[in-house]
Amino acid sequence: MAMATSPSPKKVLLPIVAGTEPIEASIPIDILRRAGADVTVASAGDALLVEIMYGVKILADELLADCAAASYDLIVLPGGVPGAANLGGCATLEGILRKHVEKGGLYAAICAAPPLALASWGLLDGHKATGHPWFVEKFPPEVTAVDANVVVDGNAVTGTGPATSMEFALALVEQLYGKEKVEQITKLMLVRYEGGYSMKELNSVQWHCSGTPKVLLPLANGSEEMEAITIVDALRRANADVIVASVEDGFDVTARYGTRIVADVMLDEAADRAPFDLIIVPGGLPGAKTLGRCEQLVTLLKKHAEANKPYGAIGAATAHVLEPHGLLKGRKATTCASMAGLLADDSECENRVVVDGNVITSRSPGTAMEYAVAVVDKMLGRDEARRLAEGLLFLA
Ligand SMILES: *[C@@H]1O[C@H](CO)[C@@H](O)[C@H](O)[C@H]1NC(C)=O
Repeated sequence: MAMATSPSPKKVLLPIVAGTEPIEASIPIDILRRAGADVTVASAGDALLVEIMYGVKILADELLADCAAASYDLIVLPGGVPGAANLGGCATLEGILRKHVEKGGLYAAICAAPPLALASWGLLDGHKATGHPWFVEKFPPEVTAVDANVVVDGNAVTGTGPATSMEFALALVEQLYGKEKVEQITKLMLVRYEGGYSMKELNSVQWHCSGTPKVLLPLANGSEEMEAITIVDALRRANADVIVASVEDGFDVTARYGTRIVADVMLDEAADRAPFDLIIVPGGLPGAKTLGRCEQLVTLLKKHAEANKPYGAIGAATAHVLEPHGLLKGRKATTCASMAGLLADDSECENRVVVDGNVITSRSPGTAMEYAVAVVDKMLGRDEARRLAEGLLFLA
């Protein structure tokens, strides 16, 4: 009798290159892995370590050249400037895509990548497609540009930009696994397809910040990549000086769904750069538990809080870093739905973003962009938040 075997996982190829947009890469990687896909992050450059946009450093799983012989169920191209054009100019990638499309494979691109990569190779001819509004005019006449967040036409799936990355990634999950899988994933993530943000604010105070805000974002193995990368990307778009610091033994951190993020510094070194204007702790398990056990980080946070400087956390980090160390004392906060019970005061946990004085908290990957824009609103003002939201295509 044959042994029962589980079906082999769907194979996904996601190339990255210098200038790839971090949110547009990390969200499909994370969400497709949540759905059970075997995602290979491949460097289209000549090294595994790739510095993508906003100084985010990612260690790819493989070089794209080593992926040419394999076959995939889906190939996804993130956008970015000049990332999308760099992908479009990569002959190895063009060869892989042509073979994949000829075999009837599912393929996808977001932001500038539909016009600058797929369409430049003629692979969207005769298709309806979308892309970043700044780049849709680059579609050739053979492509019908559609004004929608995500367009599925035949085997081609296209999306518009950072703010629609989650909707785009979930459309890919639906194509590979069906609607039920999408519902299963979105329930935990508090996904919302509309742009814009609001925050529940209590005990409103002005956050003081002179010049360029210096922000610390600590990172551990098992930190949630969508939360960490969305915050780093958004704050750097707002010109904050964001220092990503590893609390692990090395710079190279493996996030919750396997994204290898290379930190800027080790936490020791970051501590020498204190004081910061803001400290934000990303969620994800077991990352948040590791961060909560990191004495050096806790000491930094406590000193920072005593100096009345703003700090915050998202998801599991509210419950596992701020709460156990008294950093929410007398404050209302929010965390992921499953951890509300860990907060001494869970009365505002239903809110997606809560600001209480100097403390700003949020819930999950699905609220990370709202959170990042709200942080910029408090730190740099409403105009800067609006400019950021526009750049992310995250307007209400
Ligand atoms: C954390 O991840 C890195 C790879 O990113 C690995 O080398 C290291 O051993 C991991 N640390 C722990 C404590 O598992």
